Amino acid sequence: MAAIPTETVLSTHHYTPDLFAFKTTRPSSFRFRSGEFAMLGLMADGKPLLRAYSIASPNWADELEFYSIKVPNGPLTSRLQHIKPGDEILLKPKATGTLVHDALLPGRNLWLVSSGTGIAPFTSIARDPETYERFERVILVQTCRQMAELQYGIDIVDQIRRDEMLSEIVGDRLAHVATVTREEPGPNTLEGRCTDLIRSGELFEATKTTPWSPEYDRVMICGSTAMLNDTRTLCEEAGLEEGSNSQPGRYVVEKAFVG
Ligand code: A2P
Repeated sequence: MAAIPTETVLSTHHYTPDLFAFKTTRPSSFRFRSGEFAMLGLMADGKPLLRAYSIASPNWADELEFYSIKVPNGPLTSRLQHIKPGDEILLKPKATGTLVHDALLPGRNLWLVSSGTGIAPFTSIARDPETYERFERVILVQTCRQMAELQYGIDIVDQIRRDEMLSEIVGDRLAHVATVTREEPGPNTLEGRCTDLIRSGELFEATKTTPWSPEYDRVMICGSTAMLNDTRTLCEEAGLEEGSNSQPGRYVVEKAFVG
């Protein structure tokens, strides 16, 4: 079996005791579509230990970025949380996934609906200029238990707004809706699960949009199994049908991997 290639860790950022982001070098030959995932890991007890990770950086970036939970006693994340700049990680330079432009039919509004670390593929898509060529409006939604868990998404949206090239392309067409379920919401944050806010209409009110319609709205979903199921039901009730790489549709789904 050929050895799995390694990449060098460039930086790490710990957001909470359970969440961290890290950047690595990117092999020049590694191509991916924004929103895809790859297999990443470490050598453990002489064997490669790999898990699927969404690539959080956009496809034009020189570096790769990932956002990870630290699973208590998790075989990989209990080790991976200790990586530091200069360390090597394993990365299979092959990406795949369904949270990609190609799996959606053209539309007006792109909804990126996530819970927890499910935001990772969407921070890739929200930083891809092609997203704004295809859609008039992009609405990034993330539900977490606590305020501190929303910081990664807040930082990425700030970064987009401060980036000279991206801010010009994005303008005021990106909305970010952060919601918390187990703490008082802070400024610019809503209270409650994204699914409940969709059902009540609060999410549409907050973003000055209208409830999902098959004509205008396209939805990407990434989160826990329960969150996927509930959001999928909302899509189906709105008359949207699921798409795939081989048959584009009006919504697509992927489980947030690690954890
Ligand atoms: P809640 O606090 O009400 O369970 P988890 O870490 O369990 O995956 O949860 C991450 C976030 O996703 C939490 O805010 C949680 O809300 C929310 N969540 C859990 N299940 C669902 C669901 N079925 N639909 C929407 N959001 C959910």
